Amino acid sequence: MMELFELMKYRRSIRKYQNRQIDRESLQKIIEAGLYAPNAGGGQRTFICAIHDKDLCEKIGKLNIIRFDRSKLAGSYVSEDQPSIIDNPAIKSGFYGAPTVCAIFAPKNFLYSIPDAFCCAENMVLEATALGISSCIIARGEETFDNEIGSQLLERWEIPKNYIARCFVLLGYCNGEYPQVKARKKGRYKIIG
Ligand SMILES: Cc1cc2nc3c(=O)[nH]c(=O)nc-3n(C[C@H](O)[C@H](O)[C@H](O)COP(=O)(O)O)c2cc1C
Repeated sequence: MMELFELMKYRRSIRKYQNRQIDRESLQKIIEAGLYAPNAGGGQRTFICAIHDKDLCEKIGKLNIIRFDRSKLAGSYVSEDQPSIIDNPAIKSGFYGAPTVCAIFAPKNFLYSIPDAFCCAENMVLEATALGISSCIIARGEETFDNEIGSQLLERWEIPKNYIARCFVLLGYCNGEYPQVKARKKGRYKIIG
């Protein structure tokens, strides 16, 4: 297995997925990694709902971008080898065809609800990488379920009313070549003392 530092450098956001589903045992481990993430006040408030169903992921992936406004992002560019919805307007799902998607919920009115969810997501993508599974963290959790179909899903999944989706973790196998390690911008740190 890759050493942690190497693994962190190797991990990339994957937006091209094979049809092949991940197994439940790996999914369970990835979820557990999320549950062990640092969390504000030790409150363990995040709740992970894993959608291990490619068709349902595709349906929710479309909801994820219904309010996405490209016009505000003119000039930005995300990835040449793994184009995002910003780069390619032809992409119709914010989940890029990933066969499994974990929605991370956290309390609506808690100051650290968002950082809690993203800490959880980061632990999950690192564990996925260690297991040879590709991943991508996705935003727009709040708006994804803020519609008729979305609220019906939350009801069916019995998500508490005071909880809101903060982000998603896509999981699957990279279709095509795994992207290279990305160079870092210079001047992003200093050490004092
Ligand atoms: C807070 C956050 C939100 C993100 N949201 C999205 C998203 O909505 N769609 C997407 O394709 N990638 C999303 N990403 C992935 C980033 O685009 C990706 O991490 C970044 O381009 C760096 O590439 P790398 O992960 O391959 O190193 C998000 C990442 C973070 C940390």
